[in-house]
Amino acid sequence: MNRRFFSMNRIFAIFLGVTLSYSIVLTILSGLPRFSHVPDQPSPGLVDYTPEQAAGRKLYVQNGCVYCHSQQVRPVEIDTLFLHGTRPSLPSDYVYDRPHLMGTMRTGEDFTNIGRKYTGEAGKQRLEAILKNPRAAVPETFMPNFHHLSDREITQLVSYLQSLGSWKEPYQGAIDEWQPSYWKDIPNRTQEANQAIQAQPTYIYPIFIVIGSIMVLVFAGLLWSWQRNHFADIEEPAHRMIHDPE
Ligand code: HEC
Repeated sequence: MNRRFFSMNRIFAIFLGVTLSYSIVLTILSGLPRFSHVPDQPSPGLVDYTPEQAAGRKLYVQNGCVYCHSQQVRPVEIDTLFLHGTRPSLPSDYVYDRPHLMGTMRTGEDFTNIGRKYTGEAGKQRLEAILKNPRAAVPETFMPNFHHLSDREITQLVSYLQSLGSWKEPYQGAIDEWQPSYWKDIPNRTQEANQAIQAQPTYIYPIFIVIGSIMVLVFAGLLWSWQRNHFADIEEPAHRMIHDPE
């Protein structure tokens, strides 16, 4: 190989090119979220966290609750369990959540509307009991114990939990009403697709077999021909290069 291919200048140019492309991509990527569809108006009724609740939210982050508890109720049947008499989540529910704590796992349950499940003084006491000793509440649970938190911190966490979803209007209607319109407007074509598959001509398999057989025959013919040295003159230059480099 030509030595000058790896000359210093070239290495420098490659390095510069890679660095430049990388920084351009990085700049674009870090700017992109600004153009995404983020609502700036909160949902009706939603208010910012009080200092007490904000402190609780911070503890929620610090103690990794988000790894086991999600905060997103989807407009699907299986999530109705977490509605607690209200509607599924909307993007505008999260305007005060930076970063949002939607989570990706439900090892425990979803907390979007937990404040509606445990209300008032009784709810507060119940939540405190769960946090201090989850096994006292659910004997077989594997939720970790948070007894290292002070009473003050438990109170903050509980006031945060009680705030979640508590501001929402009650809602008892159909949950698929809350599906974004771009999902609702997509026609369901499953049946059509099934019919199309069933209506497929049955001669498609014989065609596969015929084409496959032809390919096997052509390949066998080439092999037969090659073994009888019919390609000697095509191979000759390559042979020469390998065995006689000069
Ligand atoms: C390792 C996973 C895990 C972590 C981390 C975790 N939890 Fe849990 N949590 C669970 C599970 C699982 C349950 C459900 C109880 C059960 O049935 O076992 C639960 C239940 C709960 C409940 C009761 C919910 C109800 O409706 O009765 C509350 C409240 C709760 N967790 C709060 C928290 C908070 C606050 C944190 C963070 C400080 C936290 N959890 C961290 C797994 C976890």
